[in-house]
This record gives sequence, structure tokens and C-alpha cells, in this order.
Amino acid sequence: MRLIVPLQAVFQGPGGLVLGTILPCALFYALQLLRGKWRASASPDAAPDQNSSRNDQILARNDQTLAGNDQALANAEADAAYISARALAIASVGTWSSYYVGWQEFVRNPYHPVDNPGGCIELGIAENKQLSWDLIENWLKNHPQEWPDNGPFCFRHVAGYCEFHGLRAFKNALAIFMGEVMGGRVAFKEEQMVLTSGSSAALDILAFSLAEAGDAFLVPSPYYPGFDRDMKWRSGVKLVPVPSHSNNDFRITKAALDRTFTETEKSGIKVRAILVTSPSNPVGNTLDTTCLLLLLNFSSEKKLHIICDEVYAGSAFADPAFVSIAELLDSQNYDASRVHIVYGLSKDLGLAGFRVGVLYTWNKQVLSSAAGMTRFCSISSQTQCLLSTLLLDKQFVQDYIAENRRRLGERRKWVASLLEKAGIFCAKSNGGLFVWMDMRRYLVSDDPEGEVILWKKLLYEGRLNLTAGACCHCIEPGWFRLCFSSSSDDTLTVAFERLKSLFL
Ligand SMILES: Cc1ncc(COP(=O)(O)O)c(C=O)c1O
Repeated sequence: MRLIVPLQAVFQGPGGLVLGTILPCALFYALQLLRGKWRASASPDAAPDQNSSRNDQILARNDQTLAGNDQALANAEADAAYISARALAIASVGTWSSYYVGWQEFVRNPYHPVDNPGGCIELGIAENKQLSWDLIENWLKNHPQEWPDNGPFCFRHVAGYCEFHGLRAFKNALAIFMGEVMGGRVAFKEEQMVLTSGSSAALDILAFSLAEAGDAFLVPSPYYPGFDRDMKWRSGVKLVPVPSHSNNDFRITKAALDRTFTETEKSGIKVRAILVTSPSNPVGNTLDTTCLLLLLNFSSEKKLHIICDEVYAGSAFADPAFVSIAELLDSQNYDASRVHIVYGLSKDLGLAGFRVGVLYTWNKQVLSSAAGMTRFCSISSQTQCLLSTLLLDKQFVQDYIAENRRRLGERRKWVASLLEKAGIFCAKSNGGLFVWMDMRRYLVSDDPEGEVILWKKLLYEGRLNLTAGACCHCIEPGWFRLCFSSSSDDTLTVAFERLKSLFL
């Protein structure tokens, strides 16, 4: 009402009463009414259906950017501490995706053979915790971290602010390691690298750099559920699945790429990139040369970027051998400025907690904008110093890669044979830390609801956290991902006993 008195002073004469008092009062009360309505729907104490409709709005908005005016109005009108729609969408994430609900169930009631034998067994996180950590532990025992008196890894060199996009010496060590992992067929260069705290951050930066909010990336599905977080949350980019099918071993086809591209652009959404993973998560198959050439040709024709996530390159354990997209760029005539590789040490070295990611690009602008953004996601210099010494130990690296691959292959074989005894078959795979299980015969109905019922049975009756196909945008209900390298043999045996007692 504070506005009304000065307005009365301004509007003198016969119209003063209407213009100075009645009109502002009417406006004021209309505004109060709107404000009350807004508060009711935003309040956490609102009725459940109001809350869920708010949630729906938030989710719908997750793919959009808020119009500036809309946000400014909401800011001005809310008395409650204002939280952006972007942040609210992220805050509510744990409650609506089975991927996160399953994890929370494990955290609430984790299995332990002695302390909690009835607890939930975690089979949904792709980590290599069990198979090869002993090799790294041994190396660490023999190489306690010491600060040299001088050189790129001496205390005085790295204790202050360093290059946020990675120490040059560490980039060199990583370039050599990546070359080794990829069979020595590619010479990676430190000048084309930006280092980030984990490959998730590299993916986030690429989404931010290659598209405007509201633009789309095509992603062959089934795909890694984390892409919906890493690529969308901050950038506002949409991910459009390019479906593949079990009758084709979940391989990418030109027909599916063409169809998805045309339909997306027809709906008014600009496609900017294709995002692929090799070896694939969740299927575990690698992209062969024919498929990589198909992708390169398709992206040349449509003027798209290609992001090739190769974080499992060193975890490819069987033929056909892994082929990096970098190999084809070296030998063919493609526009390399549209090609970007994502790598990291979370999977192949099992060092997810060390948070080391690599964005490798041939595009100078992307390189410099990404370097700028690493201010928000750099790797601590201490981590870089320690890992440089490890990665430069050529003998250790060669032995580790060979032994880790051997162990992964053996584990995969053992897991697949146990699953077969429970009547569950897996898609063909030659890499990764998981198997992609066909559980369609256990669906009560062959539809998404049937898959949810099965997922709940596994989680709440079997106390097994597995990733349901829907989280990976699989179009065939009944496929589940089981991560086999984060549990011990004994825990996996218990998991299989539980599976058998659920279904046999
Ligand atoms: C295909 C893929 N890319 C990226 C990541 C993220 O890895 P990081 O720990 O390096 O962020 C994962 C983790 O599961 C993954 O499966």
C-alpha cells in the first residue's frame, strides 16, 4: 500500500480518486491473490497432489531454461528463500528415478556378510573396486608419495595455484597412458587435453560448449543413466535416444539415426551432436570400425559434433579389439574439429574417488573455453603428482592393463554362467564392468509397468539393487544391468542365491 499515497499526490483533479486510489488498490489486491496462489503451490507443506504437480512442473522445466521475466516475477513475489527451478529439479532427483531410489535403498540398508546379512546388495554402480585394487595398493606400498626437491612435482611447484586445466607433466603422463590403453595405435598430445575432476565434468563442459539450451544430442540407447545428469542439468541440452534392439545385439543403425534426426529436427529442435560410448554402458559391446565410420559420415553429412566417451577403453577384455575414434581421424579425412573424446581414470584404474577426467578435442575454441571452465572442476595438484609417478611407470602400466583385462574377462564369464543357472541370459559383450541381462521372461506384463514391478521385486524382496532398462532408455522392457566388479565373489554368490530363490 506504500505506493498509493505518492500516487494520490501525483494524480490531482477529478480523475485523481480513480487513478490514485481505486485503480492502485485493485491492482494491489489482484497481486496479493496471485501471490497467495503461487505460495500455496510452492510450499513444501502443500497437499501431496499440489506438491506432485509442482514436481511435474519442475521436471518439465528441467529441459527448458526459465524465461527471465518469469523468474524475476517469482523472485519478487516469494517471501520464502528463493531457489531456482534448475536447483529444485536437481534437489528432487533422488525421489523420481529408480536409478537413485535403488542406491538410496542400499545406503539405508547395506549388505554385510556378518553385520547385516539381510541387507541390500549393490549391483548398480559401475566401479572396479574388487578386481584390481590390490595391484594399485601394491604399487602404492612400494612408492610412498614423497615430494622431490625440484622438478614439476616438487612441493614448491604445485602447492600454489596451478593451471586449473591440469599440470602439463600430468597431461603428458595421461597422454602416454591413454596411448597404451588404446593399444599404442594413437599418439595422444597433451596440447589437446583439458583435465577435469572426473569425466562427468568433461561431459558437462562439452554439453555446455557444443549447444544452446534447448538444442539436442542424439544418444544411441540403451545408454548410461548418468548422461541425463551430466549432459542436461547445467547445459539445458536435451538428450534424444536413438533406439537399438536386442535382435540386432543393441547395435547402432543408420536407419535409426536418420529417423531420430529427422523427427527431432521436424519438431523444431536443433540437433548438435551424437554422443556414443565405447565399450557401451550398459551393454558392454565396443563400436567397431564400420560403426565408427558410419557415425563419422553421418555427422559430416548433418554437420554434427561427435562425443565419444571411451572411459571403458582399458576395460575391453575380449575380441573384437577396442578401436578409438582417434585412430580413424589419424587415417581418414574427417573434420576433426567436430570430434571430442572423453576419458578418465574412474573405470580402467578403478580410481573413481581420485576424480580424474580428460576432455580430448581437436577444436581449439572448445579447448580454450573448456580450459576456462576447469576453474570449477580442477584436479588437486597432489593427486596429479601421485598419479603421474604411477602412470609413468611403464612396466606397471602394461602389467596392470593386461592383468585387469584378464580378471574382468574371467569375472564376466563366471557371472554369466551363474546367471544362466538362474535362467537369465546376457547380451553379447566384450568390455565394461557389467552385464546386460535379459529378464523378460520374468515380467508379469511386457510393458514398462511390468518392468517396474520386476525392479521392485528385485529391490524389496531380493534386496538386490540392479539398474532397470528404463533408466537407460531401453525400448524393450525387461533388461537390467548388473555391475560385477564392485562386489566380492562371496557377495555375488549370495546375490545369485537370492536371484534363484526369487525365480526358481
Ligand atoms: C559411460 C560413462 N561415462 C562417464 C562416467 C562418469 O565417470 P567419472 O567417475 O569419471 O565421472 C561413467 C560412470 O559410470 C560412465 O559409465
